[in-house]
Amino acid sequence: MSVRIALLATCLFGLAATAQAPTSLKAAYHGDFYIGAAINTAQITGEDTRGDAIIAAQFDSISPENCLKWENVHPQPDKYDFNLPDQYVAFGQKNHMFIVGHNLVWHSQTPAWVFHDDKGNLLTRDALLARMRDHIHTVVGRYKGRIQSWDVVNEALNEDGTLRPSLWYKIIGPDYIEKAFEYAHEADPGAQLNYNDYNLENEPKRNGAITLVKQLQAAGIPISTVGIQEHDSLDWPTLDQLNASIEAFGKLGVKVAISELDVDILPRATRQQTADVSVRAAQNPALNPWPNGLPDSVEQQLTKRYADLFGVYLKHREVVNRVTLWGVTDADSWKNDWPVPGRTNYPLLFDRSGKPKPAYDAVLRLASGQ
Ligand code: XIL
Repeated sequence: MSVRIALLATCLFGLAATAQAPTSLKAAYHGDFYIGAAINTAQITGEDTRGDAIIAAQFDSISPENCLKWENVHPQPDKYDFNLPDQYVAFGQKNHMFIVGHNLVWHSQTPAWVFHDDKGNLLTRDALLARMRDHIHTVVGRYKGRIQSWDVVNEALNEDGTLRPSLWYKIIGPDYIEKAFEYAHEADPGAQLNYNDYNLENEPKRNGAITLVKQLQAAGIPISTVGIQEHDSLDWPTLDQLNASIEAFGKLGVKVAISELDVDILPRATRQQTADVSVRAAQNPALNPWPNGLPDSVEQQLTKRYADLFGVYLKHREVVNRVTLWGVTDADSWKNDWPVPGRTNYPLLFDRSGKPKPAYDAVLRLASGQ
């Protein structure tokens, strides 16, 4: 009898030990928030089998790195290309994931024809609104009930919190943002609608986003989340800045998506911290110090940085509804080619060969409280 009790105890303790030591990011953070990854063409089509295995095992949410951007999904006035987006959504459904749509209205990666008539003149407000509505209804409508969250407007703010003078703004006026949210809501009333931007950790820009959310709410426009992109470095943002931003958005009654997380450890190539995709900087060996591997000391700083960041996300688990890494392995990251082309960067949780990095272990340990 006592042997049987001992055996039973071993079994139960064994199970408890297994439950306390999850072996995937999604299991570790289950019940706190989704853990997402932005996925690229080779991962969507199944060509990157190694990447797909990591995505399926580790993540329970996906974002499309490029395939749903206007220039790809709607390259010409009368031509939509749903080949990749359809495969993207099928991948997410097959793996029972929270599927994100990125994005509907942005000043980058949007073809020039969107803003012009066939004579090359700028469109009128009404014509551009009609074009925006048609695009949003076509794309959101196609994936109604399958894409759970849309980045409706991306990067509408300047660093000082005023509205960026994009062609959307210049032609339509400041209410282009309201209109985009309205159209997205019409097209899929069940989808979460997100305002997404970088540098929202900086106070002036954060305040601009707060004003924007309040305006949308006052006008009865359904906004459910603010996406803080979190293209970070080792020293920016401070944890205080990050805490303050999540708290400020939480107070407005919206959720926060950490929507594009990566941590850049290379020397900064621009004067300002930015994630503006149009910024370019010249190649220079001094800006690419570790082409053959990261020294231990820097690896440790990256590991600590990830643990600190996830510590903040966990503290705000009531407000944060997902944390999405902008890529799967270091080899996939846009940070290898932006803002300087051809660098070797180390911004994610899996290394170039697909192996989990010490930062991955730290993030996992943190969740299981070990
Ligand atoms: C980046 C992609 O990762 C690159 O492949 C592409 O060349 C440029 O765009 N903010 C965003 C994302 O909202 O869409 C950007 O993605 C990164 C910055």
